[in-house]
Amino acid sequence: MTNAGRQDNLKAKKKAKLEKFWKTRGREGGAERIQTGIKGFDEMLEGGIPKGRSLLIIGSTGTGKTVFINEFIYRGITKFDENGVFVTFEERPEDIIKNVKNFGWDYDPFIKQNKLTFVDSSPSKEMTKEISPDYDLSPLVTRIKHAVKKIKAKRVVIDSLGSLFLKFSNKGAVREVFYLLADELKGMGVTTLITSEKIYGYDIPRYDVEEYVSDAVVDLNTEIGQNKMIRTIIVRKIRGVGYRSGKVEFEITNDGVEVYPKIPIDVGVAKTEFKVRKKFGISGLDEALGGGIPRGHIVSGLHWKSPYPR
Ligand SMILES: Nc1ncnc2c1ncn2[C@@H]1O[C@H](COP(=O)(O)OP(=O)(O)OP(=O)(O)O)[C@@H](O)[C@H]1O
Ligand SMILES: [Mg+2]
Repeated sequence: MTNAGRQDNLKAKKKAKLEKFWKTRGREGGAERIQTGIKGFDEMLEGGIPKGRSLLIIGSTGTGKTVFINEFIYRGITKFDENGVFVTFEERPEDIIKNVKNFGWDYDPFIKQNKLTFVDSSPSKEMTKEISPDYDLSPLVTRIKHAVKKIKAKRVVIDSLGSLFLKFSNKGAVREVFYLLADELKGMGVTTLITSEKIYGYDIPRYDVEEYVSDAVVDLNTEIGQNKMIRTIIVRKIRGVGYRSGKVEFEITNDGVEVYPKIPIDVGVAKTEFKVRKKFGISGLDEALGGGIPRGHIVSGLHWKSPYPR
């Protein structure tokens, strides 16, 4: 067998093992999941996102919301043969197509093969129609539904809730239409990712639709590191399934997003017994530790060399 073949075998074995583990995390008849295909993200979610539901991706500007949803669409088509609809209220489709080429993702053949379609509601397209309070949004829902049906899409992404609300002055109507849209999409069995800008001072955006339209909320953030920005992701909620909680780091590389999920701790193995102590045999240290190191603890030894001459 070639080296590449061996690598593929290993990868397939590792994947099968992971998927078996994920199955143990769910219950028969519980929410089915779909894998996003985003590196590390499915591990973090213990198998993927609930199928046929909607997930809200929140974050301030530049945190990676648009990259995330693009990768969800791209991996859906290339890895899982699931077609996608991209609804944009923000950037023009031409710009989106150009931007993702940087990751080596070519959308043009997918569009030709009816695997991907855009519903373009970007400012340039709609400038003339806005902004009457009576503007009827229902044709937009019809367009989205039509697009889903036409290419038999399984994945829909909407970028972004904030631009939709900014665009239309009649917030009540927008809300109503959004409820309708979320319901229709759920009924069609597609899994939807919606992006939303975080408003400064709030943990969750406040357009009063989030609770209704999102079964799950994922929060993207950036922190200033010593030499670079540190990107983090937190799953705020997912209705009805388990996931690894807490803050997890991720990167945006040349290949897209890479999440670094924390290693799960098997409590059966990592069980600590404070009553049973393992002695170091170093005078003073065992006493200081109350009789030695508790069984099940992991000890890491650090050798510290003083930079100062003695
Ligand atoms: N095509 C690309 N190639 C390489 N890196 C990119 C690319 N697009 C985005 N990035 C990186 O990802 C970061 C996040 O971009 P993204 O557009 O996803 O943010 P966003 O959360 O959607 O922001 P906004 O709310 O302003 O739309 C960028 O700051 C950039 O560092
Ligand atoms: Mg964006």
